[in-house]
Amino acid sequence: MPRGGGLMALGARLRFLLAVWTLAGLARRNAGEAGDGGWQRRGPGAPAALAEEQCCAVERRADLSYSEFVQHYAFSRPVILQGLTDNSRFRALCSRERLLASFGDNVVRLSTANTYSYRKVDLPFQEYVERLLYPQDPTSLGNNTLYFFGDNNFSEWASLFQHYSPPPFSLLGTTTAYSFGIAGAGSGVPFHWHGPGFSEVIYGRKRWFLYPPEKTPEFHPNKTTLAWLQDVYPTLAPSARPLECTVQAGEVLYFPDRWWHATLNLDTSVFISTFLS
Ligand SMILES: *[C@@H]1O[C@H](CO)[C@@H](O)[C@H](O)[C@H]1NC(C)=O
Ligand SMILES: *[C@@H]1O[C@H](CO)[C@@H](O)[C@H](O)[C@H]1NC(C)=O
Ligand SMILES: *[C@@H]1O[C@H](CO)[C@@H](O)[C@H](O)[C@H]1NC(C)=O
Repeated sequence: MPRGGGLMALGARLRFLLAVWTLAGLARRNAGEAGDGGWQRRGPGAPAALAEEQCCAVERRADLSYSEFVQHYAFSRPVILQGLTDNSRFRALCSRERLLASFGDNVVRLSTANTYSYRKVDLPFQEYVERLLYPQDPTSLGNNTLYFFGDNNFSEWASLFQHYSPPPFSLLGTTTAYSFGIAGAGSGVPFHWHGPGFSEVIYGRKRWFLYPPEKTPEFHPNKTTLAWLQDVYPTLAPSARPLECTVQAGEVLYFPDRWWHATLNLDTSVFISTFLS
């Protein structure tokens, strides 16, 4: 009897230890590569979260086939694609710690985020991450925000990009070009348009505003998306509002040829676009 009781107590203790170990593992995973990659700053000084739209009007499709993509979206409307590729390895390599360790000394080219006056500044990646990658002060409306998107040196960053699996949907007669970026909460690109493409969020969230080619949005080319959202967006009649949605980490937004679009990073975000042209 004492022996049996001892064994039962040992079993209970082992089960308890197993539960603690499993929970600790889950917590680590949530805070680590499956979480924010170390990119989000929390605690005192963290800004109020930027909000997602009230109503996402872009369809989300999981496991879409290529023929469905071509038939329903490629030439007619945006769509958010889920479960297309497994980029978990690329995602792990894009954590703050891993990127700083591999590319901290590389010089990156930063741009100001407005439609015309793109000012370019070259800075070591580590300095950018440590000094400039803070959330936008809402009062300055991100006017002079320098951020890292595009202008990538593909030979220097090849060891990272080789692990990225782009969306497997190509369009006849187009070639693909990547554009990789990391930007602070509140940053984004104001309205513009170009050829079709995909934009995948690796960490963080990115809110999109889209208009079809025939519907030129009302916006000031020298103002940021955040300024537009605060000043112009609330004045728009329902019929003049853009198509909106917030793309979550692991999702890919497709935008067709010549669709107007503006973006706003709701968190510090890591993202990569594949342009078809
Ligand atoms: C934006 O920057 C320009 C020049 O750098 C300045 O003239 C303008 O007042 C700024 N606008 C806002 C809203 O801060
Ligand atoms: C990319 O980096 C390499 C190696 O540092 C350098 O020689 C080259 O000039 C860079 N290319 C561009 C376009 O900056
Ligand atoms: C935007 O800024 C550029 C450069 O600062 C200036 O030349 C242009 O007139 C401005 N555009 C508008 C519409 O104010």
